[in-house]
Amino acid sequence: PTRILTGITTTGTPHLGNYVGAIRPAIHASRQADTQSFYFLADYHALIKCDEPARIQRSTLEIAACWLAAGLDTEQVTFYRQSDIPEIPELCWLLTCVTGKGMLNRAHAYKAAQDQNEAAGRELDDGVTAGLFMYPVLMAADILMFSARKVPVGRDQIQHIEMARDIAASFNHLYGEHLTAPEAVVDEHVALLPGLDGRKMSKSYNNTIPLFAPQEELRKAIMGIVTDSRAPGQAKSTEDSAIFALYRAFATPAETKAFAKAFASGIAWGDAKQQLFERINAEIAPMRARYQHLMAHPEEVEAALQAGAAKARAQATPFMHTLRRAVGLASLD
Ligand code: TYM
Repeated sequence: PTRILTGITTTGTPHLGNYVGAIRPAIHASRQADTQSFYFLADYHALIKCDEPARIQRSTLEIAACWLAAGLDTEQVTFYRQSDIPEIPELCWLLTCVTGKGMLNRAHAYKAAQDQNEAAGRELDDGVTAGLFMYPVLMAADILMFSARKVPVGRDQIQHIEMARDIAASFNHLYGEHLTAPEAVVDEHVALLPGLDGRKMSKSYNNTIPLFAPQEELRKAIMGIVTDSRAPGQAKSTEDSAIFALYRAFATPAETKAFAKAFASGIAWGDAKQQLFERINAEIAPMRARYQHLMAHPEEVEAALQAGAAKARAQATPFMHTLRRAVGLASLD
């Protein structure tokens, strides 16, 4: 079977970008024949960006509830919390020792932090932790631990998957063919969902639309999407339109075509937003009730995660044993 793996960092409330870019395609993929899926909550990654324990806890529950509400079948999929698998940081160290520092210097997240410092006239590494610098190695450990071949992600993560391939190749070159090279799977239609301001929807930009906000809140958020000043009756461009991109991510090709036509014939922005709200809500509403139930019963979520951790460790423990032997850490007898 093909192994599929993906994770979400537990630093915020799950948003439409996470759903469309990761959760929905991953659940879809897990239902295909001859696949074996590993989906997890990247809470070690959360520590890189967030030093508020309560926020990480809350986000872990929210994101887990979100996967379950969206229809994840925990019998079929191995669903776990990264920090329940001590073999992951252990593998991370083995990989750290075969990873070129120069490659990490080129990682987008690290370079973005440096660019910000440069623009502000600060020292390049001001406020940059070693954790941020090492981010791609921890992510490689996540992926390589479970020999995942396919990693469904949004476009912003492609570089990390390429680095995981490089790191696997370095390890294999030194110690034998133990690690499987992964590839990113990106749905081009939804590769980067825009947020309220038209930039990539992202926790860091504060422009997200929460996935399971109450219906009225979802409507209000959608009404707040920034638009240009074209009046009703004036033709609107579908290109660079956040409303159009969001609609397309939730609609069939036929619905999308009809929506494009309405743009050409000058639909009022308010009407376009209302249609967008209805389309998104139609898909989300059935999951919302289940989400709210799980948020009120964290013990159900925790039980699912404990069972998932046991399943994940049944793979990780023997594999880590093999890798320890491969690099010379085995016991001497
Ligand atoms: P994170 O938590 O930033 O995002 C989780 C997933 O959601 C996708 N995504 C988007 N897709 C489309 N449009 C958007 N606006 C949008 N915003 C987010 C991301 O591409 C991602 O697929 N480092 C990862 C988590 C991680 C991971 C892994 C992923 C840790 N280890 C191993 C895959 C494999 C991250 O921070 O994603």
